[in-house]
Amino acid sequence: MIKEKNIAVLVSGGGTNLQALIDAVNDGRIKNGRISLVLSSNPDAYALTRARKNNIPVLVVPRSDYDCRASFTEAIVNALSEYNTDLIVLAGFMYILDSSFVKKYENRIMNVHPALIPSFCGEGMYGLRPHKAALERGVKITGATVHFVNEVADGGRIILQKAVAVEEGDTPETLQKRVMEQAEWEILPEAVNLFCCDKL
Ligand code: GAR
Repeated sequence: MIKEKNIAVLVSGGGTNLQALIDAVNDGRIKNGRISLVLSSNPDAYALTRARKNNIPVLVVPRSDYDCRASFTEAIVNALSEYNTDLIVLAGFMYILDSSFVKKYENRIMNVHPALIPSFCGEGMYGLRPHKAALERGVKITGATVHFVNEVADGGRIILQKAVAVEEGDTPETLQKRVMEQAEWEILPEAVNLFCCDKL
């Protein structure tokens, strides 16, 4: 019998990836896992509404309250230490945390990135920017990656990837939407399920 895992999801914005995780827990695609906390860096994130609608406890640690990466990281580590967290999922979390966070939760932090790593990734590549860069470079295939988080931005072990076609006339927004629908919302719950079933 596998122990049920406590999952903390870190968000900054709309929370569609959070929603994909909530749906997958509810319909049994994620087994042995429950979302026990949603932590947002942004007090106005719609992701918080999604969590509250599903009776998931929320915490807000506003990035603007901290003057540097180290103090922001410390506040997040302190907040998480109250919860018995097995897995931390960065689902549209727009900040890089420092190495104290990575050391404390080694091999227990996952991130979803909206490109096929090692393309269009690293510091500064978040949100719409990887899609803009993919269109500027003229690639015909992009996609999404779920990976473990280590000290290197987008540099940890790759867990799952899925390719998505770029279409004629795509804008960063249309490409982002297709990558989310066809890749992110599929591979993120799948990777979380693998973790919760001790298969990673
Ligand atoms: C998603 O496309 C996610 O992959 C990306 O931000 C979006 C958040 O959307 N994350 C990054 O760029 C992190 N490097 P969501 O809030 O609707 O899940």
